[in-house]
Amino acid sequence: MPRAEMQPSPLSLVASSNYFFYTSTYNRKRAGVSVIAALTLIYLAWVNHILQGVPSEAWKLSGSRWTAKQLKRVYRALDQQPIEYTSKLPPRLDRGNGLVGGFIVLQLLARGTPPADIRILDIRSPERRDMAEGLAKAVEFVQTDITSAAAVDAAFARPWHLSVTHLPLTVFHTPVVILASDRSTYLYGFLEAVNVNGTKHVLAAARSFGADIFSSTSSASISIRPVEPFVTAGEPRNFWQILDERDFSHPLRPRAEFFGNYPASKAVAERLVCAASNPSFRTGCIRPANGVYGNPTDNTVGGPLSRWVPHIVQSFVHGANVAIAHLHHEAVLLNKDAPQAGRPFVVTDPNPPISYIDLYAAISTLSVHPFRTVTIPPILIVLLSYAVEWYHLLPYRVPFLKEILPEIRGDLRHLQPGIISICTHLIGSDADARQAVGKGLYRLGYSGVVTTLEEMVLEILEWNREHEAEDGVVREKKLYTTSTSLAEQLRQVLAVGRVVAE
Ligand SMILES: *[C@@H]1O[C@H](CO)[C@@H](O)[C@H](O)[C@H]1NC(C)=O
Repeated sequence: MPRAEMQPSPLSLVASSNYFFYTSTYNRKRAGVSVIAALTLIYLAWVNHILQGVPSEAWKLSGSRWTAKQLKRVYRALDQQPIEYTSKLPPRLDRGNGLVGGFIVLQLLARGTPPADIRILDIRSPERRDMAEGLAKAVEFVQTDITSAAAVDAAFARPWHLSVTHLPLTVFHTPVVILASDRSTYLYGFLEAVNVNGTKHVLAAARSFGADIFSSTSSASISIRPVEPFVTAGEPRNFWQILDERDFSHPLRPRAEFFGNYPASKAVAERLVCAASNPSFRTGCIRPANGVYGNPTDNTVGGPLSRWVPHIVQSFVHGANVAIAHLHHEAVLLNKDAPQAGRPFVVTDPNPPISYIDLYAAISTLSVHPFRTVTIPPILIVLLSYAVEWYHLLPYRVPFLKEILPEIRGDLRHLQPGIISICTHLIGSDADARQAVGKGLYRLGYSGVVTTLEEMVLEILEWNREHEAEDGVVREKKLYTTSTSLAEQLRQVLAVGRVVAE
């Protein structure tokens, strides 16, 4: 609902605080306490009320709400005819391609690149079904821990097939660990190891093994300013934001000015990549805005982020659109004097941002499983997030408590203040990426090939297909590894690995 309809009336606030004041005069001390408690409650109720609203600017920028009729129509259409966008891919380039995300591999193959010209470097072999069939099955996978420079060099040193050795090399650098809620320096090490040092290692290897194009996935969350839910002016500071690339032309902000460790680590990595650009090694970044979705392992459609924020307006970007942006990026970087080199480009789905209401409507209308949302007052979430963070950091501040205090597990562990910033109204602006490529212009010529509506419906369709057995019986929900839970697993594996190595 637009904010205008939800403004609390200042008059009623004054009236109720006076009421508490006059009825509590029989005991001065108690009255004082009651007044403070009452004012606090009123203040919190007011903040809660504001957090439940949508700033009118954000509302205007979001599209119209998805209707049940529209959702069912798209569902039926997709059920009969899958989305086919091969014809919209940038033309095939005869180049080798290392270190790639799943969608990029699929698109390279679709546009005719032979599997022998592609190599995947990853910590784990691809989990996705579409990577285990057809041509994708024939792409070589090299298990690589990018936190180790030696491992990365070894992976790059593997000889290519003779038919490929003469080809120039593009490196698409897409790995990332996402832990969106951590803010403390105590928790920065793991993100630094993968997102910053991992990028450094791959960048160095790519350069020394003769790659001339390096296209890296960054994040539009870099430009997010932390939301300050307790600010007293009309609305919380940074309650709604446009995600663009303007921050890149300013010096890197200090870590505290990012909403958390994750965007801070991505920003450092992005600067490293962009600074490495020169005419013989063109680099740059794609910043997906904002939630990347596109298979059951994403955090958006299935994950914990989408549970308490029905009114929130946000841009989404499908993995296939991010991948195609990387292919456009590669194509413009073929030019040795490409003005597009050495900078980031925001990309988002080719439609206005949606509201989480749309996502919930899609799931409840179309899923074979019953779906119910429980809306928790945002102020409780905000307060709880500070409590969780305080508790989570306690053993770092007071080490002996590590043995005594039980660790927080599950989704609650991620309910820390950083999550509030990533759950606010975030609108991606990919104007620069979208415009046509022209001489001397800093553009990509990107256009998304799938919309948020189509792809979210498709994801539910695939979910339903996977869960409906032949006889029409609905099966138990499958559990997937989301990128957040993967990050947790990796953190443990890498921590253990390091202890063993020392
Ligand atoms: C990242 O690399 C720097 C130096 O290159 C090193 O000092 C730092 O400890 C590394 N961080 C992690 C978490 O491994």
